[in-house]
Amino acid sequence: MPAGFLVALEGIDGAGKTTQARLLVEWLRGRGFDARYTYEPTRGPFGRILRSMAHARNVDPRLEALLFAADRLHHLIRVINPLLERGLIIVSDRYLHSSLAYQSVTTGDQKWVEEINKFARRPDLGIYLDVSASGGLNRLARRRKRSRFEDEGFLERVREKYLEYVERGELVKVDAGRPVDDVFSDITSIVEEALRGRR
Ligand code: TYD
Repeated sequence: MPAGFLVALEGIDGAGKTTQARLLVEWLRGRGFDARYTYEPTRGPFGRILRSMAHARNVDPRLEALLFAADRLHHLIRVINPLLERGLIIVSDRYLHSSLAYQSVTTGDQKWVEEINKFARRPDLGIYLDVSASGGLNRLARRRKRSRFEDEGFLERVREKYLEYVERGELVKVDAGRPVDDVFSDITSIVEEALRGRR
C-alpha cells in the first residue's frame, strides 16, 4: 500500500488558507487522488478548549502552546496517521508550523515550542501563503469579532517567524496577496511537482 502524503497550508489570519485548502482537495480528487481536508485547531476535546479561550484575557501563553500541541497529537493519532496509512493525501488547514510561528511569538521561546511539538512529523509539503498583516486583517474585516491573535503588530511578528521557516527550506512561500485563482495556480504547480510520479 502506498504511504500517504501530508500537505500543510500555513499563513497568518486572513491569508486565505481555508479557501485554497478546499480548492486543492477538489483539484486532487479531480486528478484521481483520494484526498481529505482537515484542520487545526480541531473540533476535538483540546480544540474545543482552545476555541473557548479565543476571547479570554490573561491566558498563559505556555498553557495555550501545550493545548495546541495536545490538539495536534490527538489530530495525528485519530485522523492524520490512520489516513496516511491508508495512502490518502491529507490537506491540513494549519498544522505544526502554526505553533512554531504563533507560539514562538506568544511565549518568546521558539526552542521550547519546537521541543513540545517534537512528536509531530514534518509535513511532506508545507505551503506558506504570504500576506502582510494589514492585508490579512483587511480580508478578515467583515468577519466576526477579532480573536486575541488578530492584531497587526502581533501578526507581523508571526509572519517573520513563518518567513524564517521559508528560509530554512521547511515551507514554500506563495504570494497570497493576489486574486484567488492566481494563488491557486501557484499552489497546484507546487503540489504537482511534489507529487510527480505518484498515483
Ligand atoms: P484559525 O485557523 O483561524 O481557526 P478558525 O477559522 O476556526 O478560527 O485558527 C484560530 C487561531 O489559532 C488563529 O489565530 C491561529 C491560532 N493558532 C495558533 O496560534 N497555533 C496553532 O498551532 C494553531 C493550529 C492555530
